[in-house]
Order: sequence, then C-alpha cells, then structure tokens
Amino acid sequence: MRKIIIDTDCGSDDAVALIMALKSKEVHVEAITTVCGNVPLDLATDNALMTIEISNAQRPPLFVGATKPLMRDLVTAVNVHGKDGMGDLDLIHPLLTPEKEHAVDAILRLVESNPNEIEIVTIGPATNIALAIMKDPLTMKKVRHIYSMGTAGFGRGNTTPVAEFNVYVDAEAYDIMLRADIPMTIIGFDVCLGDAALNKRDMEMLMESCKKEAVFAVQCNRSLLEYNLKRSGEHIVDLPDAVAMGVVLWPEIVLDSVECFCKTCMIDSYTYGQVIVDDGSVLAVSDGFIDQEPNAVMCKSIDNKTFKSKMFNLLLES
Ligand code: RIB
Ligand code: CA
Repeated sequence: MRKIIIDTDCGSDDAVALIMALKSKEVHVEAITTVCGNVPLDLATDNALMTIEISNAQRPPLFVGATKPLMRDLVTAVNVHGKDGMGDLDLIHPLLTPEKEHAVDAILRLVESNPNEIEIVTIGPATNIALAIMKDPLTMKKVRHIYSMGTAGFGRGNTTPVAEFNVYVDAEAYDIMLRADIPMTIIGFDVCLGDAALNKRDMEMLMESCKKEAVFAVQCNRSLLEYNLKRSGEHIVDLPDAVAMGVVLWPEIVLDSVECFCKTCMIDSYTYGQVIVDDGSVLAVSDGFIDQEPNAVMCKSIDNKTFKSKMFNLLLES
C-alpha cells in the first residue's frame, strides 16, 4: 500500500483533495501536516481537522507546521477562499485535535522510519518541506517522491502574471525543495483549469446526492465560486489541489508530461514566485539552460473526464 504525507494550507480546494485521499483505497495517509498559506496556520489546521472528520474515512494524525514563510510576511488567499478559507458558512467546528509533535519533526521521523516509501503531496506553500530539508537533508533524500501542486506550469500565474500562489507565498522554500534532488512531479495551475474545474451541473449533482462529503466539498468552495463569478462570470470552481491529488492517486490520467529544469525566481519583485520551466526544446537564439539537469517532471495535460468521474466516485462513495 502506498504511504503518503499530505502537506496542506487547507483552503477549500485542499479540502476536496484531502477527502479524496482519505477515502481512497489506493493510499494510506500516514499524516497530514499543515502550513500557513490560503489562511493563517490555525485556520488551516482547523479546516484540515474538520475535513478529516467529515470524510469519515482514514483518521491520520495531524501535525502543525510553519506559522509563516521562510523570509517574507504571509500573503493569504482569503479573498478567494473566504475569511475562514472554507466559504464562510460556519462549517468548521472540529472535535479532533492536532498532535504535539511539530510537522517538520513528524515528516523527518516518518521518512526515516519508512525509507524510500513515503510520497509527500504538497498542496500549499513548501515551507514545511524546505524546513525539513534544511534540518536533515540526508533523511529527506529517502523520500520516495514529491508531488507538488505549484507553479504556473506552462501557463500564466494566478497571483501575479507569472507566479502561482503556492510558490508566491514562499518562493525561497520552493527553491530549496526544487534543488533537493528528490524525485518530483509538478502539477501546475495550467492543467487545473478548463474541464478539470467543477461546472454548475457538477455542483448541482453533488448537492443533490445529499452525501455529507459531497455537499461539504461544494459548500466549502462557495467563496471560490463567488470569486470566479465576479471575476469572469463563469459558474465554475477550479480545484487545483484536487487535480494534483488525482494525479497522485491515478497517474494514468496524465496524458502528457515532460522532464524539465525548473528555476524559481526570488530576486526581482516583478518575477518573485515565477518558476521558469525549461523543457529542453530547441530555442531560437540560445540553448536554454543546457548545463542544468532536469529536476522535475511537469504535467502538460490530464484526462479531465476520467479525473472527474474518479473524483466523483470517491466523493459519492458511502
Ligand atoms: O494556486 C493554487 C494553490 O494555491 C492551491 O493549492 C490553493 O489551495 C492555493 O493554496
Ligand atoms: Ca492549497
């Protein structure tokens, strides 16, 4: 059975990803670790605990991590996910509590005791992962694989024109993770759009199911829906973290991917949080970053139809 650790800044799309993993028969969730991002750490923690309860499936221990990014003040996405990160519908009243051990120590302990078995799924800023790498790089080399929802992939940023939120919150952390020589797959924001997003009909179907987890998954994304309606008039809910979890659970949904050299920009304020993705293709004038070895596999397209039907099966399963 695959063993995964999920590191999350639990906003509303994270919650759907957590429900998928917790209800999946394909993975054992060894731990959930929380990090600041969409919302401050205490809210991310409560949101994740509530999601574990609602899922009524695996009950992994939850460990609390970084309260702020490595070098910068926290920038949240409460304007997208709501003040509580979960649609501001007063859904979050967890009875579960977190463990006492710090998330970074828990990650290192679990990796050490399960060498080359643990797959880490990061669906928030990489602060906890970077701290674990800085604290004990040799142990972190025993991580089997990192799956990261992060970067704009081959598309536009969602936080600046070039930066995706998870990297933008803590680009220094993402740079440390990218340079740690741990096998890594990146699900960029670009593959999480279009038909991968929930549409009006999808949300009506989930609500009409009256299944607790399915209703929770729609309700907690209320603010995200309102944000999209206001921004583009589209009645959609894009769920980047759920797409990333889909790639983790069902690798066969990846239709195309490419090994790339990825470089995180941290110096200039205009490009802070951008991840330059060099897929090695021949360029007009220069040879790109030919002296750099690829450090990640970047997803280029996924089978949205299969992703959605598998996700719905999990959300609707008793
Ligand atoms: O850019 C999308 C990512 O930022 C997702 O993980 C979402 O939850 C936010 O954290
Ligand atoms: Ca997230």
